[in-house]
Amino acid sequence: MSYLIPTYARQPICFVRGQGSYLYTADGTAYLDALTGIAVCGLGHCHPAISAAIKEQADTLIHTSNLYQIDWQEKAGKILCQKAGMDKVFFANSGAEANECALKLARLYAHQQGKSRPKVIVMENAFHGRTLLTVTATANTKARAGFFTLDDDFIRVPFNDVQAVASLADDKDICAVLVEPIQGEGGLHTPADDYLEKLYHICQENDWLLMLDEVQTGNGRTGKYFAYQYSTIKPDVLTTAKGLGNGFPVGACLVAGRAKDLFGAGSHGSTYGGTPFGSRIVCAVYDNLTNDVLTNAVHESEFIRQSVRETFPQIDIRGRGMMMGFGLPDDVDCTHIVDIARDEFHLLINLTGGNVVRLLPALNISHQDTVILTKKLLALFTQIIK
Ligand SMILES: Cc1ncc(COP(=O)(O)O)c(C=O)c1O
Repeated sequence: MSYLIPTYARQPICFVRGQGSYLYTADGTAYLDALTGIAVCGLGHCHPAISAAIKEQADTLIHTSNLYQIDWQEKAGKILCQKAGMDKVFFANSGAEANECALKLARLYAHQQGKSRPKVIVMENAFHGRTLLTVTATANTKARAGFFTLDDDFIRVPFNDVQAVASLADDKDICAVLVEPIQGEGGLHTPADDYLEKLYHICQENDWLLMLDEVQTGNGRTGKYFAYQYSTIKPDVLTTAKGLGNGFPVGACLVAGRAKDLFGAGSHGSTYGGTPFGSRIVCAVYDNLTNDVLTNAVHESEFIRQSVRETFPQIDIRGRGMMMGFGLPDDVDCTHIVDIARDEFHLLINLTGGNVVRLLPALNISHQDTVILTKKLLALFTQIIK
């Protein structure tokens, strides 16, 4: 009997060790991890330089309090703001918390504008977290069911539909748009290249904050530090987590321009946000998240895509960089694909949106491991697509 509340339908396997792109079970069997803990261990498992920083910081100082100056938090803030092109940052502990922070900022912005019933535009298929406000912003009906979600605070429109957002311009209660540059959990949807630019202009015209959820797309996942950097715009608010700590729980809400000075002393907080320990890890992650690593992510992911494209033209290839989705034809039975990949090919993948095989490999995967991964993936598709 397990004492754990069964909020997850867990697979019958336990990993006891990780190194680079591999996870190992207790008997030493290696599994090629093409998921990296759902886009978390972007630099691979137990990256030596990050583990070394963790060990050193564990022996030096783990926690003080945000009552005091924290040098490592200042350093982490500087590097993150510089890489993200943002002005200031609040450190939290997860993606949901970072988004909760963003939504609070939007409400404060509305308050300053004299609005009494603030609403945020969110998208169909969006995923923003599991706190009450972020699960309300999330589209997934299963995640929301029974929680008396705060639906009056949001307006949901189709993703990648600029007109649907523009048509809300007359609604004086709206204060912000919250959107993922590429939707992850909701089925790996990539919008048109000019989607963010168009949203940006609508937000500018209406005095709405443009808030980008880069919890999954951030920290190099798509081949840029942040996915919005493929566009020419700059958001007012940007949230991130996942790859930011390479496995250590850290989240961040970054602000610029109109959103920069909304919070002051006492308006938001977190006991664990930005501890010396967590901040040191963010610094270690960014020390190792070099341009070479981003280039590697682009090259190796293109190798995988190209191989699939050549062999299975019927597969719908989605995403960008190391955020990859392979939409299998509707008549393919995907029910057991994750189990088959794991048990027969020792390949860890996941399925989203019913028939989209999702890969989120390490950004620094070696070419040798990319070739192995690709062989396993093609063999899996060959077996599944009869
Ligand atoms: C885009 C996006 N936002 C928010 C979250 C929530 O992050 P966390 O699970 O760290 O709270 C996720 C998690 O998958 C995500 O993909």
